[in-house]
Amino acid sequence: MSKLIIRGKRRLSGETEVQGAKNSVLPLLAASILAKGESVFLGCPHLSDVEASIKILRYLGCKVSHKDGTICVKADGISRYDIPTELMREMRSSIVFLGAVISRGGKARLSFPGGCELGPRPIDLHLKALRQMGVSIEERYGVLECSCEKGIKGARIALSFPSVGATENAMIAAVLAKGTTTITNAAREPEICDLAEYLNRCGAKIYGAGEGTIVIDGVESLTGCCHTVIPDRIVATTLMSAAAVTSGDIVLHGVVQSHLGAVTPVFEEAGCKVVFSRGNMRITAPEKLNSVKHIRTMPYPGFPTDCQAPVMAMTAVAQGTSVIVENIFENRFRHVGELVRMGANIKVEGKVAVVEGVPKLFGTSVVAPDLRGAAALVAAGLCARGKTEISGINFLERGYESFETVLSGLGADIKKI
Ligand code: EPZ
Repeated sequence: MSKLIIRGKRRLSGETEVQGAKNSVLPLLAASILAKGESVFLGCPHLSDVEASIKILRYLGCKVSHKDGTICVKADGISRYDIPTELMREMRSSIVFLGAVISRGGKARLSFPGGCELGPRPIDLHLKALRQMGVSIEERYGVLECSCEKGIKGARIALSFPSVGATENAMIAAVLAKGTTTITNAAREPEICDLAEYLNRCGAKIYGAGEGTIVIDGVESLTGCCHTVIPDRIVATTLMSAAAVTSGDIVLHGVVQSHLGAVTPVFEEAGCKVVFSRGNMRITAPEKLNSVKHIRTMPYPGFPTDCQAPVMAMTAVAQGTSVIVENIFENRFRHVGELVRMGANIKVEGKVAVVEGVPKLFGTSVVAPDLRGAAALVAAGLCARGKTEISGINFLERGYESFETVLSGLGADIKKI
């Protein structure tokens, strides 16, 4: 099992390119099975979650190539409409394939995606939306048997929570449906807009993506096209946190300022200077960080839950007390225990974490609890005194492409063994 070894207290400086967004590539690959001909996705990161999605596409019968960040998908040869359990287990967000497989084949069988490190990860909103669109879904022995002989029909879907995945599944199922689908209380994340842009370029008729209500007029067919994936706003935030904790000064290429609307003010409150210009961003951190009084994770455009862990690492070494409320997932503080092992002073009460900043953290051996918790430990290791050894970095590799290379390019002393 590989580990990361970090020797802290190295100030980050220089510049780097931000990778393409993992949470955009996954639904884009799922949606590509609906398009005739070839879809070409540019700017795709090499990640284990992306490889897992490519495995699913190949299993279904697609021809897929992935070279130097470009993924080409030809879906004309699809001959299967089930996703095997081991592939579902490998990545629970494979549920986003459900709407596409049903729309393509009129049926689908996939195992219930298990929970993950963040909690049970229910899919009731996905299933309710698809049932409203005429899909019959049997749940038995952990397997979802779905069928829709008469074809998917448009429906009025009111999501009780702006679930990203449920919005994506409903949108994908709706593009070739008979009639119009309206999704209210839809997720507004940039990845939803990216998916809508790709599908519209394939010939879909999706209106209002990025707002609370999305309207989709079903069309007869879609033709594959070329699409560049948006930059990963969570990776950008993680790099900002790495710069902040090392009193660094770095430039990030390939950021969209509006995607970081709720994140930038947090770093400014901590005392960082953040300047955007033409798709780039420069962050300059102070010698000593100030605490961030109150952070609450919310659906976009609120503060992203995926940024909570990496930003907590920053507040752990800031002067003063920061309060962080995790409103989206019930078990997303598993990095706290590991940060405390490094000398952080953090108390968790339910969904509230109270972080008393400490002057320094100490390197020690820690275990990554999940994807963004791993990122938090990397940020902590970069500013800790001495050597930090992080195991369980398979989690990190799900979402961060060659992260140790990126960070050493910015001056960090970090090695994968
Ligand atoms: C997406 O997950 C992202 N994953 C997550 O990123 C991200 O944290 C999350 O959106 C929120 O922004 C991908 O895009 C692949 P949700 P998703 O449906 O779609 C509850 C990362 O670190 N819920 O918006 O699963 C759910 O339990 C990952 O990159 C239901 O109750 O998120 C959670 O509490 C982690 N029923 C909340 O909604 C449902 O049917 C948000 O879930 C669906 C969700």
